[in-house]
Amino acid sequence: MAKFNLKINGLTQEVDVDPTTPMLWVLRDHVKLAGTKYGCGIAQCGACTVHLDDNAVRSCQLPVSAVGEQEITTIEGLSENGNHPVQKAWLGN
Ligand code: FES
Repeated sequence: MAKFNLKINGLTQEVDVDPTTPMLWVLRDHVKLAGTKYGCGIAQCGACTVHLDDNAVRSCQLPVSAVGEQEITTIEGLSENGNHPVQKAWLGN
């Protein structure tokens, strides 16, 4: 286990996890942001996509130890009130 201070959706979150843990599971199980979904687990489907700084990445294949100081943005971080087009699309609005 190791401690990481992660910048997620504008907040710093401390997690204590194995350094090889994929960001997908850090987000869902440790930070409780369940908007990032599990699909295939092998970087093929895109269900787990987050932004790492300005780049779209598959969080199922991104070890937490590779994030460093980069900012992570999940679907929850696109807007506070759920008005971002991607958030609306997921809700079917
Ligand atoms: S879960 Fe399918 S690309 Fe990550």
